[in-house]
Amino acid sequence: MSRQSELLHEAMRHMPQGVAENYRYWGPDRTVFIQRAKGCELVDVDGKTYVDFRLGYGPVILGYGDERVDRAVIAQIQSGGTLTGFATELDTTVVQQIKAMCPQIDKMRFANSGTEAVMGAVRTARGFTGRQRMATVEGGFHGLADELMWKSDIESWDAHSGLAPKVIPFGAGIPAQAHDLVDIIGLNDFAALEDLFVRRDHQLACVVLEPIIGNAGSIAASQEWLQRLRDLCTAQGTLLIIDEVKSGFRVAVGGAQSLYGIYADLTTYAKAMGNGYPVAAFGGRADVMDVVGANAGAVVHGGTYTANLVGLSAAHCTLDILANTDALQTVNRAGEQVRDVLGRVFTQAGIEHTFAGPPSMLGIHFTASVPQTYRDWRKTNSALYQAFCWQLIERGVMLEPDSREPWFFCEAHQHMDLAWLEDVATQSIGQALSAQ
Ligand SMILES: Cc1ncc(COP(=O)(O)O)c(C=O)c1O
Repeated sequence: MSRQSELLHEAMRHMPQGVAENYRYWGPDRTVFIQRAKGCELVDVDGKTYVDFRLGYGPVILGYGDERVDRAVIAQIQSGGTLTGFATELDTTVVQQIKAMCPQIDKMRFANSGTEAVMGAVRTARGFTGRQRMATVEGGFHGLADELMWKSDIESWDAHSGLAPKVIPFGAGIPAQAHDLVDIIGLNDFAALEDLFVRRDHQLACVVLEPIIGNAGSIAASQEWLQRLRDLCTAQGTLLIIDEVKSGFRVAVGGAQSLYGIYADLTTYAKAMGNGYPVAAFGGRADVMDVVGANAGAVVHGGTYTANLVGLSAAHCTLDILANTDALQTVNRAGEQVRDVLGRVFTQAGIEHTFAGPPSMLGIHFTASVPQTYRDWRKTNSALYQAFCWQLIERGVMLEPDSREPWFFCEAHQHMDLAWLEDVATQSIGQALSAQ
């Protein structure tokens, strides 16, 4: 019996499914237990090494155990501790760093996770506008707050039915009422967008979206559609919330918004801002953020671990590296190199394929042209992609075996062995095809 199986067997007695959170359970034979991580590599408890393109769902932008960041965090802990429940100078310093990278930010508040940052942004939008309704985009993911845990049931949708997929909760325990104030529209669907703003005329506090959907294989909003959304929000006093939890400080120094040149009223950040240390933030227009405060009628925001110095010192160092070195160019180059390798492998194997999104957050879809909507994704050959991924994992390439999760790159990928990758990808696609 492998050490991994032993550990899972024991863990099952102590945690539901034997894991600390749902998404880590990959079944009785495939659930991964990691012993250590360094650079772009993981080593599991049985001593197997993987080159990792999952990177903890995206936060690792420099590499695991980056010594620059770790040293900064250790120095902070030793000199000033981790948490006092009081303000520090570092709070302002980190916001100043973010403002220098992201021009749409005037004021910010911190959080500990993407979920918390999104909840803070939505509450702020409601407090500012005095409205309650919000809208999101099909295929997006904004964390585990009940109101945002609704999705189009694409798995059981008949793509040829001519009907829309059913909207369902992520799972049990989510009250039906949590969906009462939320509309979901399709990405790049102009008619749905116009209709939304007619139906909910001046009722929407905010629209929340990832313009490059880091949770739907980096399918992206078109420039025109995002601009129309921006214009409609402005016209109706609806706040545009761009969720850059995955894309922020990854796809570009200024995030997805800088690639479009279209800016939100409020933005959420997390993942890459701390290279894997838990830290998040939300912020934007000063007039909007100024509704947050302690006065009667103000929006409440807080939390024991908010702006804890472990997260903030990691953010301080990570953002400094991202702003002042060519780290993101290196990350993008690694993504481009892997895109080239995989493109060759798929072409040689005769597989229709397309890549979506920026190279640092690379969507791979087995279909002829880049999906424009989440429903288009359903028409891709995701079963073959999944079989390919399991073969890769077998051969020491770690990734999420679901094409809705992009491949993530970090600075440490600059040292990967591309010839080896091409070889294992060729073997993996061959095996996946022959098993069909
Ligand atoms: C776009 C987006 N928003 C919010 C979240 C939630 O972040 P967290 O898991 O840190 O709560 C995620 C997580 O993957 C995300 O991708």
